[in-house]
Amino acid sequence: TRSILIAIDGPAASGKGTLARRLADYFHLPHLDTGLTYRAVAHALISHGLPLDNVSAAETAARQVDLSRLDKHALSAHAVGDAASRVAVFPSVRKILVDKQRAFAATPPGAVLDGRDIGTVVCPDADVKLYVTASAAVRAGRRLRDIESRGGTADFGEILADIERRDARDTGRADSPLRPAADAHLLDTSEMSIETAFLAAKALIDEAL
Ligand code: C5P
Repeated sequence: TRSILIAIDGPAASGKGTLARRLADYFHLPHLDTGLTYRAVAHALISHGLPLDNVSAAETAARQVDLSRLDKHALSAHAVGDAASRVAVFPSVRKILVDKQRAFAATPPGAVLDGRDIGTVVCPDADVKLYVTASAAVRAGRRLRDIESRGGTADFGEILADIERRDARDTGRADSPLRPAADAHLLDTSEMSIETAFLAAKALIDEAL
């Protein structure tokens, strides 16, 4: 049987990660959250007290990224996501990480990858591409509930401003900006539950396979 490749892109807190995990479970495919690879680079620089624009240190950290050892928990902080979007602007860092992501995708039986540039750059030949969005206010609300459910506190206005700043950085960069591939299916989850979004995505994938 041939490999199946599912590409899922979208902005921060759009629900693409949750959706990618559920689809990977359902279709029995390995899942790679490519955001974690950029987060791992940012985290390495922060832990060494290095500035986020130290490109050669970022390249070294990128080479050291091991896809089988990404520590989701250590990398989950909101601030690490913001730092990740700063190192993600460097083409040399992206190239190192994209090569690893492509190797993961090329391994049978295929995979579900989620990120910002999967359908456009990492896996332009994916069998199915989904572009998951939701309004910035809905995404900020989800992120806030997320933080609160883990016992933290945060301010809605600050989170919304963070999300809008990250959107601007991710859509505005020169190399691999966030945008839907021409052949991506758009899925606006603003008014959808996770279950509804999953069923909609599953239907699109069933149709394409
Ligand atoms: O998805 P997540 O919020 O973990 O991603 C963190 C940051 O990493 C994003 O804001 C983006 O700048 C960068 N990223 C990227 N390309 C990907 C995945 C993430 O540039 N494929």
